[in-house]
Amino acid sequence: MPGIVVVGAQWGDEGKGKATDQLGDRVDFTVRYSGGNNAGHTLVVGGERYALHLLPSGILSPNSVPVIGNGVVIDLDVLFAEIEGLAARGVDAARKLLVSSNAHLITPYHQTIDKVSERFLGKRKIGTTGRGVGPAYSDKVNRLGIRVQDLFDEEMLRAKVEGALWQKNHLLVKVYNQRAIDPDQITERLLSYVDRLRPMVADTSRVLNDALDAGDVVLFEGAQAHHLDVDHGTYPYVTSSNPIAAGACTGSGVGPTRIDRVVGIAKAYTTRVGEGPFPTELLDADGDKIRADGAEFGTTTGRKRRCGWYDALVVEAAASANAFTDIFLTKLDILSGWEKIPVCVAYDVDGERHDRLPMTQHDFARATPIYELQDGWTEDISGARSFGDLPKNCQAYVHRLEELSGARISGIGVGPGREQVVMLHDLL
Ligand code: IMP
Repeated sequence: MPGIVVVGAQWGDEGKGKATDQLGDRVDFTVRYSGGNNAGHTLVVGGERYALHLLPSGILSPNSVPVIGNGVVIDLDVLFAEIEGLAARGVDAARKLLVSSNAHLITPYHQTIDKVSERFLGKRKIGTTGRGVGPAYSDKVNRLGIRVQDLFDEEMLRAKVEGALWQKNHLLVKVYNQRAIDPDQITERLLSYVDRLRPMVADTSRVLNDALDAGDVVLFEGAQAHHLDVDHGTYPYVTSSNPIAAGACTGSGVGPTRIDRVVGIAKAYTTRVGEGPFPTELLDADGDKIRADGAEFGTTTGRKRRCGWYDALVVEAAASANAFTDIFLTKLDILSGWEKIPVCVAYDVDGERHDRLPMTQHDFARATPIYELQDGWTEDISGARSFGDLPKNCQAYVHRLEELSGARISGIGVGPGREQVVMLHDLL
């Protein structure tokens, strides 16, 4: 079972690390394939907490080679800050990290444009993380991007930065009323990383294909989630890359036949950060309670996450488009104590019932949830380690979610600790 992708089934922050933790030492390569430092995951290893935004979580596993694939956009300031942060705590990330020569770079002008364009969008803003991710992907598609390999040819780098900034400076000065950005300053800043970066840079597509040929286990670690995918998500309220399972192929240079397992991660309820439609959102005290119990605040921006009930249509759409072989349900313990737990099983759109996600955003934005009420449980389930340890109503909740969501539930998170899981099927 060499190729396994872990993907968020909702709008991100599902706790993907919980599932990858279960794979433990069996993973030989851990690959980030999309997004940038808009992501955030907190890892707890040996009682120590690590908050990472760009590095793959495999960076902390002694036997796994962490890889940043070509589909990722890299802010070198962040990359080296994370590497130095780990070094200060005795983790030598620089020694084993591999970075694709084809990955694109986020530069300070991408961050500036991200922030000013959001400001100018006003009420129509996306609610981005402000890290420059969208503008860096725009440059990639516009063929104005700066790639890792460009750092090794100073003359070409200078020309590319000048080319990328020519139009942007006009825009910054004349439209956004900002100061022009000096291409030389940007070039020098990028060049300051060359010596440290060079030993990590590799043809990571080749490395991963060779590893798969040799029978190694490669874990493709999704960032964000299906419904934030630029093609399949709630456009335009999405990120600018392809977090879906198919993105693991384009974002790392392996063919679709390499992927054996796709694990969708779904929270036992739903959250979202930033703008965009969210049919089951709770804007009342119930939402506040879920946010407080689940500590639903962003790892990257600290923003309050919007909270709501489980939406089976959202997860089912992700299960279908990603061909989930498994679902890993996280944070089930947060739902303990509710007398009744609503689960969204359909939508009402202008009087018409929809059992599947509507085809258009126009309809999705107007969908009101049709709920089925599940009986709750009062017991603390954080000590459960097998399915039989869960209260009967809790088991029924899981079974109902499984029926509705389009893939078998193979794992359940019942608390923040690594060991606080109930496994129903092995993920490998
Ligand atoms: P961007 O990726 O910074 O351009 O932001 C685009 C949208 O994706 C915004 O709604 C963000 O809040 C959301 N987003 C980006 N990364 C994450 C994440 O890791 N978790 C949850 N939402 C995210």
